[in-house]
Amino acid sequence: MIKNSDKVDICIVGTGYVGLVSGACLAEIGHRVVCVDSDDKKINLLKKGIMPIYEDGLKEIVHKNVKKKRLFFAKSIKEGLHHKGHRAEAVFIAVGTPPRPDGSADLSAIEKVAEEVAKNMSDYTVIIEKSTVPVETCRWIEKTVTRFNKKHIPFDVASNPEFLREGSAVSDFLNPDRVVAGVPSKQAEFLFKKIYKPMKHSQIIITDVKSAELIKHASNSFLSTKISFINAVANVCEKTGANIDDVAKGMGLDKRIGSSFLKAGIGFGGFCFPKDLEAFYWLSAQKGYNFELLKNVQDINESQKMWIVKKIEEELWNLKGKTIALLGLAFKPNTDDMRFAPSIDIINALKKLGAKVKAYDPVSMENAKKVIKGIEFSKNPYQCLKNADCACLITEWDEFKKLDFKKVLMLIKHPILIDGRNLYDPAKMRRMGFTYKSLGRP
Ligand SMILES: NC(=O)c1ccc[n+]([C@@H]2O[C@H](COP(=O)([O-])OP(=O)(O)OC[C@H]3O[C@@H](n4cnc5c(N)ncnc54)[C@H](O)[C@@H]3O)[C@@H](O)[C@H]2O)c1
Repeated sequence: MIKNSDKVDICIVGTGYVGLVSGACLAEIGHRVVCVDSDDKKINLLKKGIMPIYEDGLKEIVHKNVKKKRLFFAKSIKEGLHHKGHRAEAVFIAVGTPPRPDGSADLSAIEKVAEEVAKNMSDYTVIIEKSTVPVETCRWIEKTVTRFNKKHIPFDVASNPEFLREGSAVSDFLNPDRVVAGVPSKQAEFLFKKIYKPMKHSQIIITDVKSAELIKHASNSFLSTKISFINAVANVCEKTGANIDDVAKGMGLDKRIGSSFLKAGIGFGGFCFPKDLEAFYWLSAQKGYNFELLKNVQDINESQKMWIVKKIEEELWNLKGKTIALLGLAFKPNTDDMRFAPSIDIINALKKLGAKVKAYDPVSMENAKKVIKGIEFSKNPYQCLKNADCACLITEWDEFKKLDFKKVLMLIKHPILIDGRNLYDPAKMRRMGFTYKSLGRP
């Protein structure tokens, strides 16, 4: 039975970038939320009020809603489903779906959660899949829950893909372009609408479950395609002397195209685009469709990362023993996430060529140290640039927009700046005395 109240008792399983932000935001709009994670360290930190991830505005809404007794943390699904006299009517699954070596998504964490929920639910429950998954995952969740649901408790499995972006996750969750709800029954639809009702301004798209699952993979693959497309155009600009900034502006003003995701750079990374593209390609192939376009998008992205290495070689010739300073490590600004960051591949390539690498990132250094070895991490951008043979901008953090370039010119060994994000004005940088290279700009 769905409870007769505007407030929904919610359990969120997986308290990472998506789960924690979703949990805090659903509490912020008035629901009672218990966030569960199998990583005890994460839950211990959260219980002490310490955020395990960096996300703008997150700490504030977590603290506020914990204080208001709308947001709680638990170490087991059992406790999350039955928490201090409250029974969860909706269980969101927000665990990781990392890529397997063949490119398909590893859904074993989802299966485990489905089993645990089945064993612990006690009344009608809507299990809402929020992780990014291939189409038909909800059908597998339903099968798993049925297998372990010995007491024959009624349930539905729905799909509610998440579109938040790291770096602006809280604001994205609270002000989405749309909420997609793939529902198998009227009862599940009713609960969904109740959960999202306080977000009056957002449009809820109700679909069947498979379509909702597909919307997420198709959206991320389309956005990746847009990025690779503009990067390919930037390469043509470079070869022809055209200016990618003007080309992108001229294209983006066409309403059918739109200006977002038309910024040339050294390629996309992060926990979503690379793996979702790969998984969508894999799934299409499994179903008998060769989605070759997605392979091309991926290939362009891989070679785009190496653009920066080629430019360094063009300036410095042999890299053996030379020091390269990297400004930024995270895959994009305002996040500490290092998963699939282009910086990792760039550093590996530079090390292979015998270069010494120094790096600085305002927020992601701790995470970077876990995945990047054999480089020097600097305390600030100036320490990073001191005595470097060449500087490379990898992530367009605000801090790098405001660098004191007079100071940089005094510290750096050779005034060479390779801008992997087209952050700076080429004419200005050259006037200051830099040998300045950016993507597709004469
Ligand atoms: N990060 C993003 O920007 C973003 C945006 C939209 C969608 N997604 C999707 O959301 C999903 C989660 O992504 P994320 O970035 O939040 O991942 P994450 O790694 O930050 O968080 C996943 C959490 O799930 C926990 N977990 C794993 N197995 C568990 C289990 N059996 N029980 C309880 N907890 C468990 C992990 O300990 C971890 O804390 C992925 O499918 C991802 O593709 C991510």
